[in-house]
Amino acid sequence: MTVDVIGGEDLTADDDPRHGEIALVPVGLRLRSRVLALGPHPTQRRYSGVPTDTLPPAERDPAQHPVAITEDGVPVGFFALQGGPGAGRLIRGRQDMLLRAFFVDASRQGQGIAPAALRVLPEYLARFDPAIRRVVLTVNTDNGPAIRAYLRAGFTDTGELFHGGVYGPQHVFALSVGPPDRR
Ligand SMILES: CC(C)(COP(=O)(O)OP(=O)(O)OC[C@H]1O[C@@H](n2cnc3c(N)ncnc32)[C@H](O)[C@@H]1OP(=O)(O)O)[C@@H](O)C(=O)NCCC(=O)NCCS
Repeated sequence: MTVDVIGGEDLTADDDPRHGEIALVPVGLRLRSRVLALGPHPTQRRYSGVPTDTLPPAERDPAQHPVAITEDGVPVGFFALQGGPGAGRLIRGRQDMLLRAFFVDASRQGQGIAPAALRVLPEYLARFDPAIRRVVLTVNTDNGPAIRAYLRAGFTDTGELFHGGVYGPQHVFALSVGPPDRR
């Protein structure tokens, strides 16, 4: 599997025969309509929302950066990165980013796409903004598939529980990124 990141050479990650080339690509005009057509299973909407609701505000907010997960160039998932005060109290400063609205399209789940996308997130961030040192996210305590996918990708449980969500308590997970000597 090769993985594209913004403006750079392809990066090689592990091979997983269940999916094609996974890349992270900023959502621009070229991908926008295809991203808007994606969504998780209806019962999972409470975890991530759907791009028709989450993409437009991310596009309007200069502190957010909408990202498509693509397989062989075709969008199969979505998330947004958010920094700054609007991201909430879990974001401690300029070096932190919140990962939100993350999902893989219902038709492509269970094939290792989320872990593949998350594994290249550090490289993506290094090119997007080298000052970033930590990615933070919240995940509902009853969302086992997402918890496992994040842990597989190297996120760790901070031990904190976030009670600000509408659908129950959420774990706070974090991933250190950037040069190891600067973390
Ligand atoms: C969580 C999610 C991103 C995982 O993506 P993925 O590409 O399917 O990840 P994986 O292929 O590694 O599958 C993760 C686990 O979920 C299981 N799984 C995947 N799709 C599933 C489904 N629709 N129903 C039940 N289990 C499912 C897989 O079998 C795997 O189980 P395992 O950990 O026991 O091996 C994806 O299921 C999703 O988009 N869910 C809805 C939105 C969501 O919960 N987002 C997270 C917000 S914090």
